Amino acid sequence: MTDERTRREAAREAFSFQVKACAELDAPFTGAVCAALIRALDGEGEIARIVDGFELEPLAAALSLRLCGALHFLARRGDVPALAGLYAQAGAAPDPAALDAAVAEAARRFPKVFADYVGRAVQTNEVMRSSALAPGYLATHAVHPLPLRCLEIGASAGLNLAWDRYRYSFGGASWGRPESPLHLVPRWEGPPPPLGDATVAERAGCDLAPMDLGDAEERARARSYVWAEQAERLGRFDAAAGLAARSGIRVEKIDAGKFLARELARPRDGQLTVVAHSVVYQYLSPETREAFRRALESAGARADARSPLGWLRLEPNPETFDFEVRLTLWPGGVDRRLAVAHPHGAWVRWEGLAP
Ligand SMILES: C[S@@+](CC[C@H](N)C(=O)[O-])C[C@H]1O[C@@H](n2cnc3c(N)ncnc32)[C@H](O)[C@@H]1O
Repeated sequence: MTDERTRREAAREAFSFQVKACAELDAPFTGAVCAALIRALDGEGEIARIVDGFELEPLAAALSLRLCGALHFLARRGDVPALAGLYAQAGAAPDPAALDAAVAEAARRFPKVFADYVGRAVQTNEVMRSSALAPGYLATHAVHPLPLRCLEIGASAGLNLAWDRYRYSFGGASWGRPESPLHLVPRWEGPPPPLGDATVAERAGCDLAPMDLGDAEERARARSYVWAEQAERLGRFDAAAGLAARSGIRVEKIDAGKFLARELARPRDGQLTVVAHSVVYQYLSPETREAFRRALESAGARADARSPLGWLRLEPNPETFDFEVRLTLWPGGVDRRLAVAHPHGAWVRWEGLAP
């Protein structure tokens, strides 16, 4: 019982933290769902039972978002009409009593769905990050104008691996496929990026848990992690997921270190190889980071003007916590900051290649 009480208290704190985060991120509906989850901890219903049995640290494991994912999934599937009705109005604040009842009914009627969601890490693939990565690929290509070979690690469903299939507006400048159903428009500050004729000759991605958006259930799961009130994000997800499913982009299930050791073993003459990632580095184990470093270093040492290598990433700076787009280029191994960006790519403050 003491243990259960401790777990409930830890969950209460973690869910409260998420309520605050939702307020800061302008997500009032998801905040209201998290508040309903806190109220559920006062009772002895299914949500309280799930929390009592959850063995990980609820904040670090984002338990509230695992539960929100299950609820969004069930709402979209329409299994609990009261819940579906509330989610259909996700732009408005839900009635707390109606929400509490709908959450309790969903958890009571669909324990398997909840067990499945609670047992897995929240996994998203934010396609808007291409707004920050695409100009990085273009800058890399401006230095070495060769066909690109894009190698993305932690690629999730591969949405950012298809960065060249979208249309972009970078401030007043445009780049990409005019016919693309996905038009990415970050708030852009600074000069435009290089807008060269970059083409992708080859692409490959890896992830420890790749999502296959060609599979209806996996697609519904991936979609359920997008917050219900974020209509624009949901629209972008649908457009990108439709493209990914049609184009047959596949992400290989393999550790990033092993993937890079294999893919970088030999230089590709006449191609610009770019290793890319966004919001992945913090999740890599020390062993994987070491294998990653070794693979990059030895490939960098072999790189020449006919087979250059770039390392492009959108990751938080560990000291300032700013999300930075950085590029290291070989031959030479010069590392530059290209931009500071919003963690999801909503805005980009472009600095470019200037030293
Ligand atoms: C926060 S997500 C970011 C996904 C995607 N890059 C994006 O920006 O939307 C981190 C991803 O890294 C993957 N990942 C974690 N450790 C990994 C590893 N050792 N090798 C490959 N992928 C890994 C996770 O499975 C997850 O899909």
